[in-house]
Amino acid sequence: MRTGTSSLVLATPETGSSGLESARRPLTSSLMQTQDDQNVYRFGDRDLPSNETTKKSLQQYYDRFYESSEFRYYDERTTKSFLRALLRRAGVPDNSRILDVGCATGFYTEQFRDIGSRSVGIDISRIGVLKGREKYSETQLAAGDASKMPFKMNSFDAVFMLGCSLTNTRDLQAIQSYHTYLTGFLRNGGVVISIGGSDFSGNTAQGSEWIYHTYEQIRNFVNRNEVDAEGPYITNLKLVSKIGRIGISKTLTRFLLKLPGSRRWTLIFFIRKKTH
Ligand SMILES: C[S@@+](CC[C@H](N)C(=O)[O-])C[C@H]1O[C@@H](n2cnc3c(N)ncnc32)[C@H](O)[C@@H]1O
Repeated sequence: MRTGTSSLVLATPETGSSGLESARRPLTSSLMQTQDDQNVYRFGDRDLPSNETTKKSLQQYYDRFYESSEFRYYDERTTKSFLRALLRRAGVPDNSRILDVGCATGFYTEQFRDIGSRSVGIDISRIGVLKGREKYSETQLAAGDASKMPFKMNSFDAVFMLGCSLTNTRDLQAIQSYHTYLTGFLRNGGVVISIGGSDFSGNTAQGSEWIYHTYEQIRNFVNRNEVDAEGPYITNLKLVSKIGRIGISKTLTRFLLKLPGSRRWTLIFFIRKKTH
C-alpha cells in the first residue's frame, strides 16, 4: 500500500505496439483473448487518463519512476492479512482467478498468489512489469494497457484495482464506465474490488496529480443502473488487517465520516454484474 504521497500521474509514448509484451513466462493461454475478441474501453475524445497521449505520458512517467524507485507498502504479513479479509468480505473463495489492474511491480499480485489465489497482474509500465518479474519469479505479470485488456471476457473471479491511473480523473462518468468495463472480465458471481484513497478535500495530493475526490464524488464512482455495487466503504488497510472483514462495514464508514480533521482514508467498492 502506498503510504506516502507517491501516487503520481503525468504524461507520453508507449514503446510496445500490441499493448502486451511477449512474456518471458507465457501467461496462461486460456486467459488471453484472440484478435477478433477485442474489448476496448472507449471514452471518445475527452482528455482523460485513457486518452492515447495521456496514456503514453503515463507509461513514460511510470517507466522512469520504477527505474529508480518503488512504492512503499505495508509489510507482507499486514498486507496478506488485509487481502485475506478483503477476499472473505467480497465472497471470493480460495484458489480464485484474480486480475490485478495497474499492478505496478506486482507487489499485490504476488501477495495474492502467496495466499493461494491464481493471480495475474497488468500494468502499462514495461519497466514496472520487468522489475516485478525479476522479484517475483512465480507471479504472472503482463505489460499492457488496461483499457484494451488482452484477457478474455468472463474469465476472472475477481478484478482487483488499487489506485490505477485510469480512475484518476474528475470525470465521474469516465470512472463509472471504466468500472462497468471491468465487470465484463468477471465470471458469473465474480466481483470487482476497486480501492482508492482520499482525504475528501477535492484537491490533488501534495506533490502529485493524484486526485482526492470528495465523498459525494466517490459515491458516484459507479453507475448503479449498470452494476450492483456495495460501497464506498471507508476504512484503513492496517485496521482491516487487524480486525478482519468487519473493518469494511457501513457502521465503521458512518463513524469515520464523522471524525473531525482531514485524514487520508482507504475507500473500497465491491462491484458485480447486474443479475436482473
Ligand atoms: C499509483 S500506481 C498504483 C500501482 C499499484 N496498484 C500499487 O498500489 O502498487 C498506478 C499504476 O497504474 C498504471 N497505469 C496507468 N495507466 C495504465 C493503463 N492504461 N493500463 C495499465 N496500467 C496503467 C501505472 O503504470 C502505475 O503502475
